[in-house]
Amino acid sequence: MKQLTLTAVQAKKSSPNLVVFIEREGVDNLSDCLTPEEFFFFRQAYQREVNSFFFPRKSGAVWVRVLKGGKESSIAREDARLAGAEVIKEVWKYKVDSVALRTYGSDHLLLSFAEGMALASFQFLKYVTKAEKKRHSLQSIEIESADPSAVVELDAIIEAVFHARRLLNEPFSYLTAPQLGEEAIALGHQYGFSVEVLGKEKIEALKMGGLLAVNRASQTPPQFIVMEWVPVDPKNDQPVVLVGKGVVYDTGGYSIKSSDGMEYMKSDMGGAAAVLGAFVAASRNKLPVHLVGLIPVTDNLVSASGIVPGDIITMASGATVEVLNTDAEGRLILADALHYAKRYRPSLVIDYATLTGAAVRALGNQAICYMGTASDNVKRAIEQSGFSTYERLVEFPLWREYGEEIKSQHADLKNIGGPTAGAITAGKFLEFFTEGYPWLHLDIAGPVFAKVANGYKTKEGTGAGVRLTYDFLKHYFT
Ligand code: BES
Ligand code: ZN
Ligand code: ZN
Repeated sequence: MKQLTLTAVQAKKSSPNLVVFIEREGVDNLSDCLTPEEFFFFRQAYQREVNSFFFPRKSGAVWVRVLKGGKESSIAREDARLAGAEVIKEVWKYKVDSVALRTYGSDHLLLSFAEGMALASFQFLKYVTKAEKKRHSLQSIEIESADPSAVVELDAIIEAVFHARRLLNEPFSYLTAPQLGEEAIALGHQYGFSVEVLGKEKIEALKMGGLLAVNRASQTPPQFIVMEWVPVDPKNDQPVVLVGKGVVYDTGGYSIKSSDGMEYMKSDMGGAAAVLGAFVAASRNKLPVHLVGLIPVTDNLVSASGIVPGDIITMASGATVEVLNTDAEGRLILADALHYAKRYRPSLVIDYATLTGAAVRALGNQAICYMGTASDNVKRAIEQSGFSTYERLVEFPLWREYGEEIKSQHADLKNIGGPTAGAITAGKFLEFFTEGYPWLHLDIAGPVFAKVANGYKTKEGTGAGVRLTYDFLKHYFT
């Protein structure tokens, strides 16, 4: 599916189309790749604070980008990604199919720059009838003097993000619950992790009352996807379980959403996309971490058979829940998955969900709102990965007082809290089902979707969570 490939190439070779990025200190070295006239022009303009240059030649062209550099490293890396995304938009105009990427001097930002170029190149043209006209011609970026294994690793991560974005962008008319099951099976075949999709009978046998209740309005059966990545020599004794909310469309049910923006709810499977993407990245890179993935999948529709506010349901764990709002459906399906996770005696469970509008109101699309019972070590490590990948996280508290708000008069729990702190009361609801293992909950409702293209984040699905998770698993366990 991926049209752009990143490859490492050995020594500096001459290439008709060359992108050069360079930090301020190194600008004199540009005389190596520019003609004397070009270099003279460069110096003149650079003194006037111009940082971006384009030198067309008889055959090919050179693009030069000067980075300010010298900042805290996570910000410098993000600036490099953004600069890469800017440059590639210029390269597309020239309709070339391959460019070399070069830097002079310190090269610690080289792969970030390449990452920005590659991430910005995602296109979703499946439903465009004249797709060939719109498709960027660029097919390969040859990175000079980079560590070949790091480039292969990055290429796999980009591919994983692209799978997540593709799934996020697919409309419900294609991506129904059974189709998401098929997509998982196909990815498992392609990348070498195991996938089992449990259908409605199995889900009934497991008494997954949350998943079944949300699905009750539907003519399409729910699915429960179970995935496993078992490396040859895992660093963890007990698996890490990744759980993803897979609501393929969320109308809200009888507590129906307003039509304003409802179209974004095709991406309410953003948690599922993050988990699938993490599995692609982990398996393609043979990450030595034993992983289990659990994805409860359904739509949340309106029909005569649907649950209504006031209904009381029994979850897989045996707990009873008073459903006071059918739009708070994510926590119902996740609760059954979090209960299912206990059978693995996991060393850590992380759930990913487009769970609350409250998380979006609190942090916008700049950060993941997270909380959980895992150790401080785990929390600091995932926060660090958040800064490195620029998928930043902010911790919210799970103080017991917030739990008071989801106590029900008629059942063990109700599925909504009060009018405030909605991201936390959702987290408290999930926490109820996580006894016996360390757990993190990532509410990715904000970052998962870009209403307009922004830097290397293409419009709509961003694939939030994939790069973060890979980076965290790699650094925490290896
Ligand atoms: N899928 C939504 C949350 C959401 C909102 C994701 C906006 C992305 C953007 C979720 O199922 C939902 O509707 N949550 C409700 C919960 C409320 C009824 C307690 C919400 O946040 O409004
Ligand atoms: Zn909802
Ligand atoms: Zn939802």
